[in-house]
Amino acid sequence: MGEETESSVNRENQIIKEENTGTSEESGVKYYTVEEIQAHNMIKDTWLIIHDKVYDITSFMEEHPGGEEVLLEQAGSDATESFEDVGHSTDAREMLQQYYIGELHMDDRKKESKKDVYITTSKESGSLTSWVIPAVAAVLVGIMYRYYMLEHKSS
Ligand code: HEM
Repeated sequence: MGEETESSVNRENQIIKEENTGTSEESGVKYYTVEEIQAHNMIKDTWLIIHDKVYDITSFMEEHPGGEEVLLEQAGSDATESFEDVGHSTDAREMLQQYYIGELHMDDRKKESKKDVYITTSKESGSLTSWVIPAVAAVLVGIMYRYYMLEHKSS
């Protein structure tokens, strides 16, 4: 009896958890659009994007060794470049995890990495064509030469 009640409570919790993830994807990760993130650009409510991840750093503002000013300047936007420019330590990078709240929406991510893939693919196919055509041509010339020599010998 006791066990049954416990498992039904667990099931309820599970359902509540799933409902809470709302707009999130199957994996339970929450995705935020740039528009949503931009709204959190004040000292009492500060979100940042670093490497396509979203951080709620409201409680960290006063603790930041680099001061809250610099964070406020980047609030609600992509701070990846500034974060990397400073050359933050491994400790600083590990601290980020505490403030992680989700991922930047796929539609709002920079398409650079995808472009790279296209460039690589087109380069690969280009080099393939430049290999195959001369190779086929060489084989054909070889065959023709053989036939020519055979005919020449027999006549
Ligand atoms: C949530 C994100 C951030 C965390 C967790 C963080 C954490 C830290 C930590 C721990 C330090 C001490 C030095 C170190 O360990 O590297 C530091 C220094 C610093 N941070 Fe950040 N930081 C964040 C974002 C930023 C951003 C976005 C900027 C720039 C716009 C920035 C600018 C600085 C500067 C200028 C210092 C150097 C302070 C000095 O050496 O006097 N930080 N940060």
